[in-house]
Amino acid sequence: MVEIQVLSDLEVLSLKAAEIFVGLSRRCIARKKKFMVAASGGSTPRRLYALLGSDLYNAQVDWRYIHFFWADERFVSFFYADSNYRLLHDNLLSRISIPQENIHPVRTDLPTPQVSARNYEEDIKKSFGLSEFSLPQFDLILLGIGEDGHTASIFPDSEVLRETEHLAAPVMDMKHMHYRITLTLPVINHAEKVIFLVSGKNKAAVVEKVVIERDRSLPASLINPEKGELIFLIDKEAALHLKNI
Ligand code: 6PG
Repeated sequence: MVEIQVLSDLEVLSLKAAEIFVGLSRRCIARKKKFMVAASGGSTPRRLYALLGSDLYNAQVDWRYIHFFWADERFVSFFYADSNYRLLHDNLLSRISIPQENIHPVRTDLPTPQVSARNYEEDIKKSFGLSEFSLPQFDLILLGIGEDGHTASIFPDSEVLRETEHLAAPVMDMKHMHYRITLTLPVINHAEKVIFLVSGKNKAAVVEKVVIERDRSLPASLINPEKGELIFLIDKEAALHLKNI
């Protein structure tokens, strides 16, 4: 099922995402005392993370049962501004009381991106109690869309598009000339709920290609949870070409 919501601006979009996060976490915790989330990087989710860590929402979430993973990570030190771990830590993790063992970062302190991807995969398998060839079912995966149609660190024409064996894989980010580690398509499409957060007029063209045309040359168009729900939270500027939505 695909749901498209157009919100007036990034603030309203972030508030909507926070409401969904709180509601979903409560339902999952009530059902299984766990809420397994993969956080997106980039700039769009920053306000969502800050809201969840603020007095407005902080006390509405039982952080004891929340487990944070990352949809992708840049293979840089956590101290780098580019680090997606740092994005979540500075805006949310540093402001909530969440058990350290519930935080599952991609280990960018390991010797190579390949070792880091394997280590991350093993942490996911252990955290979900997976047998060798089964897929984790995240309760929520947050994603963004790049102007080139990438999502997580799955870039157009990249080899990782064809990765079906591993849960996470190293990817060379040719634009910034550093490696990244990303969840793979099978994992993302096995999620219970995937939410795209998309904001800004610079995304209007790619939103039309992904949401309306479902242009399969763009990785974001390949996100289609088999049994789960796909929600697009798009602000008015990014929804410029979406008529009658
Ligand atoms: C990353 C993200 C990436 C991001 C898009 C959109 O690590 O950069 O995973 O996929 O979501 O590039 O980024 P913005 O939110 O900054 O537009």
